[in-house]
Amino acid sequence: MDFVKASLQGWTAVVMLLTMVSKAATCEAPSSPQCFRTNSAVSVYTCEWSTDTTESNQNNQVYFRYGNLTRTVLPAGTSKERISGRIWSRQWFREEELFVWQRVHIWVIARAGNFSCTSPTTSVILNQSVKYEAPKNISVSWMGNDLNLSWRAEAEQQALAEVSFQMEGDAAEPWENKSTTTNNTDNTYQVIVVNLQKDSSYRVQVRHQSIKAPNPLWSGWSSVTVPAELEHPLEVNMRKKCRDGTQTVTLTWQPVPPAAAVGGVTYSIEDTQRCHGCPCYTKNCFINTTNTKYTTFVTYSAANISVIAWNAAGKSPPAVVHVRAKPAADLKPCEKTLLGEKLGKQTCLEWYELEDGHPKPESVLTLLARTTKAENLKMKAEMKDHVRYLYIEHRCVNRRPQTVQMCLFYKTEGAPISAPEDFITFSETHTSAYLSWRAIPTGHQRGFLTHYVLCRANGSWQNETKECRNISASLLKYRLEHLTPGAKYNISLASVTRAGEGPAATVIINTVPQKHSNVLLSLGLLLSFSFLSVLCTFTFKRVKNRILPPVPTPVIPDSAKFQPEHQEILQGKEVVHKLTLCQLPPEGKSTEALEASEETTFLGGTDGVPVDTDDDKSDESGVYEENALRCTTDENMTDLEQVENEIAMLIYRNGLVFDVKTDSG
Ligand SMILES: *[C@@H]1O[C@H](CO)[C@@H](O)[C@H](O)[C@H]1NC(C)=O
Ligand SMILES: *[C@@H]1O[C@H](CO)[C@@H](O)[C@H](O)[C@H]1NC(C)=O
Ligand SMILES: *[C@@H]1O[C@H](CO)[C@@H](O)[C@H](O)[C@H]1NC(C)=O
Ligand SMILES: *[C@@H]1O[C@H](CO)[C@@H](O)[C@H](O)[C@H]1NC(C)=O
Ligand SMILES: *[C@@H]1O[C@H](CO)[C@@H](O)[C@H](O)[C@H]1NC(C)=O
Repeated sequence: MDFVKASLQGWTAVVMLLTMVSKAATCEAPSSPQCFRTNSAVSVYTCEWSTDTTESNQNNQVYFRYGNLTRTVLPAGTSKERISGRIWSRQWFREEELFVWQRVHIWVIARAGNFSCTSPTTSVILNQSVKYEAPKNISVSWMGNDLNLSWRAEAEQQALAEVSFQMEGDAAEPWENKSTTTNNTDNTYQVIVVNLQKDSSYRVQVRHQSIKAPNPLWSGWSSVTVPAELEHPLEVNMRKKCRDGTQTVTLTWQPVPPAAAVGGVTYSIEDTQRCHGCPCYTKNCFINTTNTKYTTFVTYSAANISVIAWNAAGKSPPAVVHVRAKPAADLKPCEKTLLGEKLGKQTCLEWYELEDGHPKPESVLTLLARTTKAENLKMKAEMKDHVRYLYIEHRCVNRRPQTVQMCLFYKTEGAPISAPEDFITFSETHTSAYLSWRAIPTGHQRGFLTHYVLCRANGSWQNETKECRNISASLLKYRLEHLTPGAKYNISLASVTRAGEGPAATVIINTVPQKHSNVLLSLGLLLSFSFLSVLCTFTFKRVKNRILPPVPTPVIPDSAKFQPEHQEILQGKEVVHKLTLCQLPPEGKSTEALEASEETTFLGGTDGVPVDTDDDKSDESGVYEENALRCTTDENMTDLEQVENEIAMLIYRNGLVFDVKTDSG
């Protein structure tokens, strides 16, 4: 009964309208309405039409006519949308309010004020009419010169798609169309447009429609701009500064070509340290920017920073910048490490195995922040014995990575397994020799060298005396001294770690012997020198005596002193260099004594100093006036004889006075 009532009302309305249409010729008629479902599974039907008018308070009413019955239905929802200068109106109706299996004529009447306009009529069986929504979320990518378009699939298994495209930048290029069926794979429809140019950008439109529905309608177009492919990696320049354990890396790069920048480009920067969360933890290891410059911070360890450009069609190959590790100068054995300890939020560790003193990046053991004690101990168990590690401790300070410690570490030390290399001796002399050697490779040291033990063995094999000393582990050259000339030494050198001594390198030293000819030469030299010195002394004495005639020492006769024994003992030492004759007074005190001794007599002490009985030592050269000695040289003998007084002869030599009795008396 309701239906009949509704129909009656509908008819009344139509009659009223028809009368009004004639009056109101000023309004614009809406387009013919399209009524459909968006896919065959839904129970909501949509009617849509467009009007040219800008009048917004225009009132639209949809009319459905089944056979002779015309009716209106209260819509479940309405919308208005302005698309390219036209107003698109939509109304939604529930399936239960329509006769969807019957053919229906549908039109729209637009009213404004006293005027109304009627659209052309559409005839449709509603449940056969399917119009998909315009393709959504179209993604594009290049595969060579083919363009791959894909978008979200509707519920249907298959669809008919139409693609329209135009190369951008050249307005003369016509639009080209391409229709194809597409399968729903992974809820996606996909179309590949072949033979485009990947270095150009395109404007592309896509629409689709159902294949299954008996009365399919094309969906609206969706347009997308496809930029050129980002074929090449960016050319990235790097500048870096190292300070306080942080490497500040500034990257700059050229913008991408304009065709690839259509629709916008973003650059994403990723570094291996950030992505590993060592030491600064970040949720997202990528950083996106639209600038062509970026400054980032890494620790003193090596890092790879990649820069990738993204546009709507995809991404460029990564441009990888290798930030080299800052070489650690002057590495020392570690004093304290965090081995086997729980790590905090801001600390991470790296243990590089060293090979020939260089870290092997492929063998690095990394402990990230928040490592538990158990994990740390597990890593400790993995570490090798007797292998030198470079220990690096990083911290995240004020959200910046920073290297706070670098040092050398052995889990356990061992004794060296090889001897110092190229152990040689050179510049050997009589008593010294130089030794030189090369340090053993780090891998053979197996511990920190504390010192070298240098031993020297001397003598025959059985009867060796071995003498060792410790020398600094930093030496590569040593001078041995105090060796015996012409001797053979067996020298050995071994490096020592805390765990013990390694094998020794040996070298034989033969010191230069003292040659015989040399001995003779030195002896000869010594002899000639002595001879010369004697000669010189003699000449000097002679000259001295001529210039400064000797002064006699007074003779103090003392019979007690002129014992024959004395004379005999001391005569051997006499050398007469010069004679001086002196006249003695006839009644001298010493006359008796002189007569008693009869011959040349010695006067004086054994020390060769004239004996002075008067204790007047200050006057060694003094002349006793009482004795009135007058002295003359032997050349003046004749004059001497003429002296009226009796004389005695005195001989002086080297301060010794000889008393001589004259025969003339
Ligand atoms: C609309 O019609 C009514 C009477 O039918 C009339 O009074 C009114 O003036 C008209 N309005 C316009 C804008 O023509
Ligand atoms: C488009 O697809 C992506 C994933 O492919 C999704 O994250 C995004 O939300 C989608 N956008 C729309 C508008 O559906
Ligand atoms: C950086 O990349 C190179 C190869 O390109 C690789 O050998 C090296 O291990 C990487 N370094 C880091 C710190 O990831
Ligand atoms: C050498 O050093 C070791 C260890 O320090 C020490 O035990 C030894 O006595 C030293 N030898 C000499 C000769 O100084
Ligand atoms: C030198 O000494 C080492 C051990 O100290 C020994 O092995 C070597 O045979 C010796 N060489 C000679 C020539 O005596």
